[in-house]
Amino acid sequence: MYFSSVKLRDYRNIPEGRVEFSSRLNIFLGDNGQGKTNLLEALYVLSQGDSFRFGDNATLIRYEQPLAFLEGKLHRGELDYTLRAEILKSRKSFSLNEKKVSIPDIRRLFPTVLFSPESLAAIKEGADLRRALVDDFLVTHHPTNAELISEYRKALKTRNRVLKDWLEERSPKNRILEVLESLNPSFFRLATQMTTARLKALIDILPDFELCLRRISKSSVDISVDYLISSQSALHFTSEEVDNALRQRAFELREAELSSGVSLVGPHKHDIVFLYNQKDSRFFSSQGQQRAIILAFKMAQIVYHGRVHGLYPALMLDDVLSELDSVKRNELISFLHEIKTQVFLTTTDLHLPEHFALDRPSVIEMTNGQISVARQ
Ligand SMILES: Nc1ncnc2c1ncn2[C@@H]1O[C@H](COP(=O)(O)OP(=O)(O)OP(=O)(O)O)[C@@H](O)[C@H]1O
Ligand SMILES: [Mg+2]
Repeated sequence: MYFSSVKLRDYRNIPEGRVEFSSRLNIFLGDNGQGKTNLLEALYVLSQGDSFRFGDNATLIRYEQPLAFLEGKLHRGELDYTLRAEILKSRKSFSLNEKKVSIPDIRRLFPTVLFSPESLAAIKEGADLRRALVDDFLVTHHPTNAELISEYRKALKTRNRVLKDWLEERSPKNRILEVLESLNPSFFRLATQMTTARLKALIDILPDFELCLRRISKSSVDISVDYLISSQSALHFTSEEVDNALRQRAFELREAELSSGVSLVGPHKHDIVFLYNQKDSRFFSSQGQQRAIILAFKMAQIVYHGRVHGLYPALMLDDVLSELDSVKRNELISFLHEIKTQVFLTTTDLHLPEHFALDRPSVIEMTNGQISVARQ
């Protein structure tokens, strides 16, 4: 899948702009703070429904403006699509070929893999980044997973609201407990489904993950993963065992949930451990090895998607080349040469490695929110 163009209005620091893309390499060039990541983020919002940076809708709209508008021309196999996003402070709405479309549907149709300095730090930073890493793959792993993630998030939000009502004594306590009991069956069903989907995705990606890691680190390193449900190793659990583990945990934490006013059980609390030569990479791997693990995971996601679904996700690289040593950088570049996917890359200087001459590169310059095409 690839973008052939995008139009923007009042998106972050970009008042108005239109740009056509190469179906291979697109370089967003400019000094710090000019809008390179903003442009990349706009493409991500269009294809994934949300930003990869913190903040709500209001942060995406240009200061003092009521709304932001994006329009992308995208192509998937033989099919052409016009995808529009209207972003207001209170909500975002999307249309595909003039028809309203849901975020899970867009994510399913337009797979995207993002590398950012934050994602490269997923091993040493919190478990939320590791869960996000796996959930990004989940969306491209199976067509129904985007919907599942979105349903689980909604169910979690509802359950948290009820727990908060309990804490703040908004209505009679027995009434609140009844509501909570009535929500539990669907909450636990979704929690089990999402956990099981993660386990399957992790097991399926492992062979490609190991090959990519060996390639990127140029060594015969051995990698495995584990999935932790409250410190219990659960990678090979059946869905019944997952369900039992979640319910057991819910039973143990019932009082704690009521006194904290938030759900303490479910996939939003689980963790993923990467074992590098059998050792937990959080504690034993160097920073460079940790980055290699994440990079290899993302590369594996692309390889897996290409093999199973017959098309490659678009790849977005925000400021990451400078974070990698020359061995990893060169391996990543030769990988990009092979997989013929569309690449967007932000950089402050054009001194890219020489052999980064993918076919038809396009250089797009950003200066204070103004877009100009330097070379096509
Ligand atoms: N909602 C907004 N309205 C207007 N300007 C904004 C908004 N949000 C961010 N900006 C501006 O956008 C600029 C940052 O753009 P961006 O993050 O794309 O920079 P960049 O070119 O990627 O820089 P770097 O090389 O430092 O990563 C800042 O000047 C910031 O003030
Ligand atoms: Mg940036």
